[in-house]
Parts: sequence; structure tokens; C-alpha cells
Amino acid sequence: MQELFVEGGNRLHGELTIQGSKNGVLPVLAATIVCAGECRIENCPRLRDVDASIAILRHLGCCTRWDGGALLVDTTHMDKNEVPDALMREMRSSVIFLGAILARRGEAALSYPGGCELGPRPIDMHLAALRALGAEITERGGTLRCRARVLKGTEIVLPLPSVGATENAILAACGAEGVTTVYNAAREPEIAELQDFLNAMGADVRGAGGSIVTVAGKRALHGGTHRVIADRIVAATYLCAAAACGGEVRLLGVDPVALSTVTAALYEAGCRVESEADAVALQSAGSLRAIPPVRTAPYPGFPTDAQPALMAALLRSAGSTVFIENIFENRYRHVGELARLGADIRVAGRVAVVSGVGALHGASVRCTDLRGGAALVLAGLQAEGTTRISELEHIDRGYESIERKLALLGAKIGRREETLWQEQDETEDAEGEGFPSS
Ligand code: UD1
Repeated sequence: MQELFVEGGNRLHGELTIQGSKNGVLPVLAATIVCAGECRIENCPRLRDVDASIAILRHLGCCTRWDGGALLVDTTHMDKNEVPDALMREMRSSVIFLGAILARRGEAALSYPGGCELGPRPIDMHLAALRALGAEITERGGTLRCRARVLKGTEIVLPLPSVGATENAILAACGAEGVTTVYNAAREPEIAELQDFLNAMGADVRGAGGSIVTVAGKRALHGGTHRVIADRIVAATYLCAAAACGGEVRLLGVDPVALSTVTAALYEAGCRVESEADAVALQSAGSLRAIPPVRTAPYPGFPTDAQPALMAALLRSAGSTVFIENIFENRYRHVGELARLGADIRVAGRVAVVSGVGALHGASVRCTDLRGGAALVLAGLQAEGTTRISELEHIDRGYESIERKLALLGAKIGRREETLWQEQDETEDAEGEGFPSS
């Protein structure tokens, strides 16, 4: 078990190149199996969720190999249709393999992804889309079996613009005869990324980024090369960190448009933000003010994944800010942990009210989920004294070495085995070994 330890109070300065997008690369990795060939995925982030996808690809009979920052996937000899329960449980979004396996093999079996830390995450829209394409789906003992002698292009109307259901529909439609049209598709940049990769493999997908996506299926597909886009949620996290701590940072490789709702909120809070073609710079005095209500919404609205980081940035702001969480039921689990550092947050159902406090103090806290874990790090960076953060497996699902990136910006943060930390507690002052020099 490892812990992060954060000594708060440092301002953040410098430049960071933002890692490849987790939510971008996961559907791309699933999409590699729609073709039988060799794919090269450049700027592939090294994350626990990527490792989980690699384990699934290997189980299915594919070969994978790292080549520096690129992941090579050879799907030529894929010879299985099912994903075992243990691999499904590693990552809830493994459900996007369903449409891809079905497109390639006409048959797929995987265990039902249960609830997760954000509350129930049903897959009814995923299954309805696959059924519309002609798949017969049965569920027994927690295992979903999908079978389609032929998949046929059709019109699919999603009741909500679900990211995963849109991806599954597009992937399955690549194996369907004729044209499929997905209405009310999710408009996230990661859907456009999936379209780009599929088209690089010879597919014919159009309209991603808008609400209507069409797929002309059954094209002859071949391997392809793709460069993963920068992770807009990771970028939002580091912008919120600099806003809260004060300082000046410049994030490289990011699309400012994809970050615009987050940068607009930070501007309202008193930061100076400058956008370039593929970079965003932020300057903050470190004393923020409350902002108008933040409502999470599907893209291009304010991302639910950036809600915990923005909340953490406003913990010491002047005034109160209302958050309204419209996507997931259980997205305030980090609030109880933030309270341990002295935060004043009241939650009632989908609404949370953050009232700024004069100071936060270090405490021992546990990550409750991926983005909530990052919010704890941001709170620790502002707190007086030392904050110890455990259950880092959540953060490691989506952030490439969060402590190294923040240390590069001047934060006092390090990671060590929990036991070593406890030993040190007894023998020496916390200041010193393990902390990077800032
Ligand atoms: C994706 C992202 C996640 C992000 C979320 C919303 C990945 C790997 N994950 O998750 O980081 O927080 O989008 O931007 O890309 N729903 C149903 N039935 C379904 C599918 C979804 O009711 O069949 C509901 C969900 O419970 C949720 C809403 O639709 O309330 C949106 O979920 P969705 O867009 O599907 O999120 P994910 O694809 O799971």
C-alpha cells in the first residue's frame, strides 16, 4: 500500500505537457480489435485502466508491446469472444469491448459491470443499441451473452447522450451491413477521437462531435496508427491546482476549446487565463472568489469529471459556490474526506454548497474514487501542515504519476510505502527524505 504525502503552501510555477487522455485511449484500444491487423497507439498514457485494457486484449488473443510512448497492438490472431469476470471488474468501462467483440466475431460474452463508486451505472442504452443492430442478448448468472448472425445498420436514438453507449453503438455498427445512424450521440471530444482512429483503419464514420453520427459498416478494415489526444480532465486538475495554490502554469498539448467551461469558471474565480492554439496558461494570486452555480452536463457543458477538482480549488475562496451534479448520483464521496482538512461543504442530494474557509489543515484521508482522489491532493496542496492520502489505486487509474507532475511545478509532494511512512513517523521529522526539492 502506498501513500502520498503533501506539504501544503507552495505556489505552482512552470510548464507541463499533458498526458494522453484516459477516456480517449480506452475506446481506441477496444477499437483495435474491430480490425485484424497491427495498430500503433502513440502518446498512450501509462495508467492502471490502460493496463486493464491490455490484459483484456491479451486474454482475447491479441499481442501488445510498448515501444517508448507508443503501444503496439496486433489483433491478427484474436481467437476469443469472452472477457472473464476478474478482468471486467478491474475497470467498469471494459463494457466498451462488447460492441467491438461483437463487430469482429458476431458473438460476445462478458460479465455484467456492477455498480461503481459513482453510484449505479446502468448499461441499458448500450444493450438497446446492440439489440437495435440485431444482437440477441441474454443475461444469466451475471454474464451477458450477445450473439448476432448478421448485424444490420439501423437508426439508434439514445434517450441520453451517453458516452459509453455512443462508443459501443459506433463500434458494433462498424461490423453491421449498411448504414447506422446514432441520434442524440454524446458530443465529447473522445467520440471524435474514436471516429478518427476507426477511419484511419478504413472505417467510414462521420459526424462525431455532433449529435448525429453515421457509420457505413462492413468496410474492409486494416491496422492503423493513432495519436491519443491530451487528457482534458488531467489538464483541468492541474489548472485548478495552480488556481488554488497561486502561481503561474502553462499546460502544453491541450485543446483550449475542450477546456473552455473549466477555464471560464477559473476566470470567474479571479484567475487570468490565456489560450493559445494548443496550450493554456493560467495565473493566479491564490485568493479566489466564489463563482455562480456550477452545473455538470454532457459535453460541451461543465464536465462531471472536473467537478471535484474545481470544488477543491474553491475551498478557501471568498464566499459560497453551489455545485449541481447532473450526471452521477454519488459524486460527492470526496466531500467527507475534504471535511477532515477543515473544508465547509454541505450536500443535499445533487447539490453541494462550498463555503470558503480561512485555512485548511493537513489530515489523513482516503481516496474514494479517481477524481475525488485528485481533489484530495489539491486540498492537501493548500493545507497548512502535512496531508497523507491513501488508496492511491483510484488516482493511478487516470493520472500518470500525479506527484511527479506536481513536484515539477514546485509542489512539495511525494509517494512512499505506507509502512515506511509509519516507520519514519516514529523516527524522524516528516520534513526531508522523500520530498522532492522545490
Ligand atoms: C464516461 C466517462 C466518465 C465520465 C462520463 C460522463 C469513459 C471511460 N468514462 O463514462 O469519465 O464521467 O462519461 O462524462 O469515457 N446511463 C444510463 N444507461 C446507460 C448508460 C448511461 O442510464 O446505458 C446514464 C449514467 O448512469 C449516467 C449518464 O447516463 O447518469 C451518463 O453516463 P455515460 O455518458 O454513459 O458515462 P460513461 O460512458 O459510463
